[in-house]
Amino acid sequence: MTVSESDGPYLICSGLFKIYKVADLEVVALRGLELSVDRGEVMAVVGASGSGKSTMLNILAGYDTPSAGTVRVGRFDLLHMTNKEVVEYRRQEVGFVWQETSRNLFPYLTAYENVELPMLLTGVSSKIRRERSTELLDIVGLSHRHKHKPAQLSGGEQQRVAIAVALANRPPLLLADEPTGELDEVTAAEVLELLNNVNQELGTTIVIVTHDPAISTSVGRAVAIRDGKTSTETMRSVSFERTIGGEAEGTEEFLLVDSSGSVQIPREVLDQLSIKRRVKLDVTDGRVTLESGE
Ligand SMILES: Nc1ncnc2c1ncn2[C@@H]1O[C@H](COP(=O)(O)OP(=O)(O)OP(=O)(O)O)[C@@H](O)[C@H]1O
Ligand SMILES: [Mg+2]
Repeated sequence: MTVSESDGPYLICSGLFKIYKVADLEVVALRGLELSVDRGEVMAVVGASGSGKSTMLNILAGYDTPSAGTVRVGRFDLLHMTNKEVVEYRRQEVGFVWQETSRNLFPYLTAYENVELPMLLTGVSSKIRRERSTELLDIVGLSHRHKHKPAQLSGGEQQRVAIAVALANRPPLLLADEPTGELDEVTAAEVLELLNNVNQELGTTIVIVTHDPAISTSVGRAVAIRDGKTSTETMRSVSFERTIGGEAEGTEEFLLVDSSGSVQIPREVLDQLSIKRRVKLDVTDGRVTLESGE
């Protein structure tokens, strides 16, 4: 089902649950995840291994469906799409970069042919295919490597080609699962800079998932995911913008309030204040205080 797009956020996940059943066991990979992303944003979802990042991204990519909740991207309601709409969504609306470098590219095709392939599948004319492949390889800085096959490229170069492939059909949304996971620090910084350039040049909305909290200084906003739920949000503050190269003091962290009014109090704070099952809430002068209620 497609819905008319209002002025609200471009991407919305609300009360998202994903339960995997393995034999008799149930694994709750997402438990009421909330996320909203504006058109044209570059943001990251940061979380430890097993926190549900890939599960969320696969749902957003249209590869998997949630057990419950709402997911909307642009005019697509991802829970109620016909098979035809799923194909349309994957081909036109979203581009995907997998964490495993080898999964993104066909090994027997050159960089140029890899970028051209998604356009062949959507019936783009040969003239436009040529123009776009050349332009995209130029944007990712690999025009001089267009005849190379993946095995003849470095890991960072392969990821850059993968980004070009994901952008071939000009999707408004780019999803990247640990795009820098297999790269060294310098190459990882280059790939992040490239994603920011793509956002500036093509206006693509970009969602990156990663386990690396340091990413919060490279994107506009980073949301932390813990146990299948988004919990805190880090924004780059104005002072950071002014003092480019500034350190962590240039970011501000907030707790997220979900649609049912819940916030996740960090485990360290709960332990420090011996908060276990319940708290006393006090509101004074516009401030909320929580105190252990045993
Ligand atoms: N197909 C599946 N069947 C059963 N359980 C799964 C499946 N995929 C993921 N899980 C479980 O769901 C939870 C979240 O997994 P997910 O892959 O989303 O984590 P992640 O945050 O991407 O971790 P990583 O950083 O290691 O990639 C994990 O406990 C995982 O074991
Ligand atoms: Mg993962």
